[in-house]
Amino acid sequence: AAAEKGGYPWFMLKEIEEQPQAVADTLRGRLGDQGEILLDEVRLTDQDLRDVDKIFIVACGTAYHAGLVAKYAIEHWTRIPCEVELASEFRYRDPVLDRSTLVVAISQSGETMDTLMALRHAKDQKARVLAICNTNGSTIPRESDAVLYTHGGPEIAVASTKAFLTQVAACFLVGLHLAQVRGVKFADEVGAIVDQLQAMPGLIKRVLSTMDGVRELGRSLASQSTFIFLGRHVGYPIALEGALKLKELAYVHAEGFAAGELKHGPIALISEGTPVVAVVPSPAGRGFLHDKVVSNIQEVRARGAMTIVIAEEGDEAVVPYADHLIRVPRTPTLLAPLVTTVPLQVLAASIADARGHDVDQPRNLAKSVTVE
Ligand code: G6P
Repeated sequence: AAAEKGGYPWFMLKEIEEQPQAVADTLRGRLGDQGEILLDEVRLTDQDLRDVDKIFIVACGTAYHAGLVAKYAIEHWTRIPCEVELASEFRYRDPVLDRSTLVVAISQSGETMDTLMALRHAKDQKARVLAICNTNGSTIPRESDAVLYTHGGPEIAVASTKAFLTQVAACFLVGLHLAQVRGVKFADEVGAIVDQLQAMPGLIKRVLSTMDGVRELGRSLASQSTFIFLGRHVGYPIALEGALKLKELAYVHAEGFAAGELKHGPIALISEGTPVVAVVPSPAGRGFLHDKVVSNIQEVRARGAMTIVIAEEGDEAVVPYADHLIRVPRTPTLLAPLVTTVPLQVLAASIADARGHDVDQPRNLAKSVTVE
């Protein structure tokens, strides 16, 4: 078993380190020299994809968070309305689906019963179903009209890490492909994004090479009993994912919030020393988003919070308000989750490890949940 872990004490740490390769494998062979997205395994015709007028993404757990990230990118690039729903809720509310609805089912294992039942419901309503899946030949892709495999390699640790990044990357491919097929906005922004996507594995690797400080920070926070995670735009699902990782691994109470919602309730939770992890958007691009998150950080700090800030290299505006600063490389706003997630995984794993927990096999959880 030690050899299987490649020298790491836990599979999860190995899987975190494998993320640059995993994302490169998701992208491999799918980005053409002319910036075109090649998705052969998607057995839906271009005409089918042109007919899509509504997208639902259904998934559970970490895969649901990948779907939440995807919504921002897909709607922005394709202008097709896209909703993301927990698979366990989807069919019970009688969603409106028809032939021109595309349902995207995201699942690492391809066996999650809630997701499978959501996709069966979608098929009964004549919607087209595309699976984004890591496990070849599993049930969800077998029952779908089309599949895009993430090719992330086996994920052994119960808490999902590399599968998440590959799901996000696969969703970006789907969004870009849809934008191309439908001829939306492709020439300018979408074209540039394709190049930037190619660069992401290298940037993830850079983040991984700077994690010593985060591991040390994790050890120093090991006795904290509650954490708050904040983000806006794509940083919001990353805040949810950071909180989920901490719950799963460290059994510590953690909640993720949209930073703009703070003032509508959650700010009441802040007291002296409460750790607040903030995912800060790039100051470039949508600069107003950045400034809003910085002011949210100021607000919690003024109420005594200990701020742990994840911000781009070169973002000096955050410095005065960060008790702990974690740097990530500069990326386009929509692609940032591929780098900002990494320190949150490392933080959760080091807190769990310092608390003496089995990082690979958290209590009460299963890798694949085949009951509803
Ligand atoms: C379980 C796992 C989670 C995972 C979720 C969805 O609850 O513990 O880590 O995110 O299932 O799994 P899937 O295989 O469908 O992505």
